[in-house]
Amino acid sequence: MSAPEPVVTVALDPDWASVALVEDVRRGLGSQPRTLPPKWLYDDVGSDLFDEITRLPEYYPTECERAILRDHAADIVAACDATTVVELGSGTSDKTRTLLDAFTAAGSLERFVPVDVSEQTLRDAAAMLAERYPSLRVEALVGDFTLHLGHLPRGGRRLVAFLGGTIGNFYVEERAAFLGALHDSLEPGDWFLLGTDLVKSTDRLIPAYDDSRGVTARFVTNCLRVLNRELGADFDVDAFSYVPFWDPRQERMDLRLRADMPQRVTIPGADLSFELAHGEEIRVEISTKFRRERLHDELASAGFGVERTWTDADADFALTLARCDG
Ligand code: SAH
Ligand code: AVI
Repeated sequence: MSAPEPVVTVALDPDWASVALVEDVRRGLGSQPRTLPPKWLYDDVGSDLFDEITRLPEYYPTECERAILRDHAADIVAACDATTVVELGSGTSDKTRTLLDAFTAAGSLERFVPVDVSEQTLRDAAAMLAERYPSLRVEALVGDFTLHLGHLPRGGRRLVAFLGGTIGNFYVEERAAFLGALHDSLEPGDWFLLGTDLVKSTDRLIPAYDDSRGVTARFVTNCLRVLNRELGADFDVDAFSYVPFWDPRQERMDLRLRADMPQRVTIPGADLSFELAHGEEIRVEISTKFRRERLHDELASAGFGVERTWTDADADFALTLARCDG
């Protein structure tokens, strides 16, 4: 018998990659400080590089979160008894299988909805999951979780999982907007399972974002390749250094690319050109690290009541289960 086929819905407009990228490039690179939203890191190459990052010895978040899921998946299932699990920014959904194993063993789960902008990674993950969980309807959504929460399926008891610490890649105001929009897209009694990386020593943080094999540097630099390919930009990719540092005031990693020589950059697809001085930086990503109180306050402000928080043995990473209040 052939494996069940996942249903894949594409919420992104066909021209999303060009139209939204152009807007983000004009807004982010056309002003100071120069920035780019991290979603443009995840073309096929970037998604593969991120997958490689998750297996690096220095990159602790993935294994910490996996350990929490292993220890507490049954508690999560018992607390929320969902009929639909949605996963935002699902990537390969590798760790999520621990959760789905527990849900399918308990027997109440009917549907799994992975959501990601990275279409091929999502299609591959959905096919793998449909085969592994024949009792589940796998309904993948190719979409942007900052734009397409209105496309989430309705009905039943829903659990929305947002794992990996990806919420830390939002700026504080984006995070508030995201949590508010998520709350608005859910019903009272639905659940939110949120993975967050916790504040810790720079002895751990810096290597996690500056690994000895240079995979993270390739991942971050890949966004320039995306702009060269998609918009005909002429970034000299080899003329940038990767500069990750810890910002103690904002309690976040700040991941930048620094121009090693002055250069004029032209981006025909965005009708933009600018001078980059020697040493000038482009911020490609932040990765905020959390403290429990701040997180609980932000969740409460958005209308989520924290039910439980679990951490790994060394309290490096937290998984928070929160209820959507009315
Ligand atoms: N959840 C996985 C993957 C984290 S990497 C884990 O815990 O390991 C972040 C994922 O979010 C990537 O798969 C990326 O493609 C996706 N992503 C980034 N920005 C997105 C956005 N705006 N909308 C939807 N997916 C996004
Ligand atoms: C996806 N996100 C949670 C990763 C992080 O740790 O902030 C992305 C990443 N960037 C560099 N390494 C990993």
